[in-house]
Amino acid sequence: MVLGIETSCDETAAAVVRRTPAGGAEILSNVVLSQIEEHAAFGGVVPEIAARAHVEAIDGIVRAALIEAEVTLADIDAVAATVGPGLVGGLLVGAMTGKAIAAARGLPFLAINHLEGHALSPRLSDGVAYPYLLLLVSGGHSQILLVRALDDYERWGSTIDDALGEAFDKTAKLLSLPQPGGPNVEKMAAGGDPKRFALPRPMKGDARLDFSFSGLKTAVRLVAEAHAPLSDEDVADLCASFQRAAAETVADRVRRALIRFRETFPGLADPVLGVAGGVGANQAIRDALLTECEAAGARLVAPPLKLCSDNGAMIAYAGLERFEAGLIDRLDAPVRSRWPL
Ligand code: KG4
Ligand code: ZN
Repeated sequence: MVLGIETSCDETAAAVVRRTPAGGAEILSNVVLSQIEEHAAFGGVVPEIAARAHVEAIDGIVRAALIEAEVTLADIDAVAATVGPGLVGGLLVGAMTGKAIAAARGLPFLAINHLEGHALSPRLSDGVAYPYLLLLVSGGHSQILLVRALDDYERWGSTIDDALGEAFDKTAKLLSLPQPGGPNVEKMAAGGDPKRFALPRPMKGDARLDFSFSGLKTAVRLVAEAHAPLSDEDVADLCASFQRAAAETVADRVRRALIRFRETFPGLADPVLGVAGGVGANQAIRDALLTECEAAGARLVAPPLKLCSDNGAMIAYAGLERFEAGLIDRLDAPVRSRWPL
């Protein structure tokens, strides 16, 4: 049974996950406190405010995770905490808390890469077998990863500028929609015409598997400026057009990745594309991914939103797999603001 702690950005999170006798994984608790209100007035996450909010919340969140799981620290076998990548102030709070508990209770400590937490979440939610392909689309990352095995990841593509969630958030900001932008852009897009504005599909057709979203963001700005002042209908149409462009761009990249995946593992009985990151909640993106998977004979595994966005359960689960593999870390493991998987 592993306690997991996540504090790399603007969520203070803790969870308890255990291995069941049948070999599955069970989430006993998964407590997430969002700081979104604290940062709302600033239009983005302020690192100093984030670190202070983590300090204030972390003890209570860890306690809540234990209470919800109906366990005490005496039942915990190992402690896992995110040590990177992310905002260093927040990382220090979670890492020190995890290390303190491990030191006080004489438990093994597992220093987790946040991206590994996302990468393994399809195994936590659906027991997906290695190897599989993962699309990670969040506010900070847009990547296509080959998840070969535990501790064996290959980055096939990543963004050369903005992350996809960032593009959603910046589009929302430009159109004066509240943050986080993704869900609000999706809401507005529901009543809009996705064909009204012609927006680019960056990197479409490119043989590499990378993403680029800054050109799309700029195109949205130019359209908004050309049509100012925007009516509600204009905003809805622009959101719909942006979302369609984003979904088609992601679909194009994933189509190529799936081809490469099938070529790399020709005999694989159950090829899987997993989705992680907050943008995985977007229905238009999910629909586009489903279409690509069906065409490629692959299975789409999109974990529930609570496991797609930042959470402690994915960190506890990554810790569980590392613990079982004997990949224990020292208590002086450093935090790392940058740490590619
Ligand atoms: O994974 P996450 O919770 O946090 C990290 O960035 O690590 O992802 C948050 C991102 C934000 O950019 C948010 O706008 C986006 O995911 N997002 C969405 C939706 N829900 C969240 N983007 C598009 N459509 C959504 N429904
Ligand atoms: Zn994340």
